[in-house]
Amino acid sequence: MISKPEQVSSQRTHQEPIVAFDKVSMRYGRGEEIFSDVSFALQPQSFTFLTGASGAGKSTLLKLIYLALRPSRGLIRIFGTDVLGTDRKSLQQLKRRIGVVSQDFSLISHLSVYENAVLPLVAAGQDVKKLARDAKELLAWVGLGDKLHALPPTLSGGEAQRLAIARAVINRPSLLIADEPTGNVDPAMGQKLMRLFQEMNRTGTTIIIATHDAALIKAYPSDCLKIIDGKLSSGSAL
Ligand SMILES: Nc1ncnc2c1ncn2[C@@H]1O[C@H](COP(=O)(O)OP(=O)(O)OP(=O)(O)O)[C@@H](O)[C@H]1O
Ligand SMILES: [Mg+2]
Repeated sequence: MISKPEQVSSQRTHQEPIVAFDKVSMRYGRGEEIFSDVSFALQPQSFTFLTGASGAGKSTLLKLIYLALRPSRGLIRIFGTDVLGTDRKSLQQLKRRIGVVSQDFSLISHLSVYENAVLPLVAAGQDVKKLARDAKELLAWVGLGDKLHALPPTLSGGEAQRLAIARAVINRPSLLIADEPTGNVDPAMGQKLMRLFQEMNRTGTTIIIATHDAALIKAYPSDCLKIIDGKLSSGSAL
């Protein structure tokens, strides 16, 4: 269970947060509350790690941010919009500004690697043919240049993860949410992906990454939220 309101530190407090939770509680069905009264904010262009033990609630927290779950109680504002008071169409528009790497990758198994990667461009109504070369370059950059026509079930865990990342970043999202994004790749690729995230962050994307990897957090000093013993704490060196 997460409790105790905390604020992620930032010097850009005059701007509207990209994500703001106010006393959010979450339970699945009739189960126990996983979060109670969680409050925090992610400021524009912040880079935050979310950490904590397996089962602590990291993925649940991220799912609330990327609008895959609705909270049991509390207020969530994304890009300044109260998501509980917003109609479906407006929520779809918010979702298009969010890049997501979920823990299970959520790839569409009957679509090819290339078709999966360009889905956010299709959803945003972009001219995909015009952007095909860029899309293929991105896929080559994550090491999938020779897998464009492969189907997700034929990919290795690391390949599927790299595809999920390519899809999440292809449309330059305002907010990138990544759940253990380097968990299945080798250390060299992990560093390459972290450099990509840092570069996106420098050019305006707000980023939150869930990870168990203490070495990763140490290597890239950032804001940090930690779920431990049912509480959410924040700081820069947890
Ligand atoms: N769909 C669901 N229905 C019921 N309980 C769920 C569901 N999803 C997650 N849980 C429970 O919620 C708790 C938090 O799960 P969550 O996946 O958020 O943890 P996590 O911190 O991401 O763990 P991990 O590090 O293993 O990915 C766990 O006790 C889990 O069993
Ligand atoms: Mg998880």
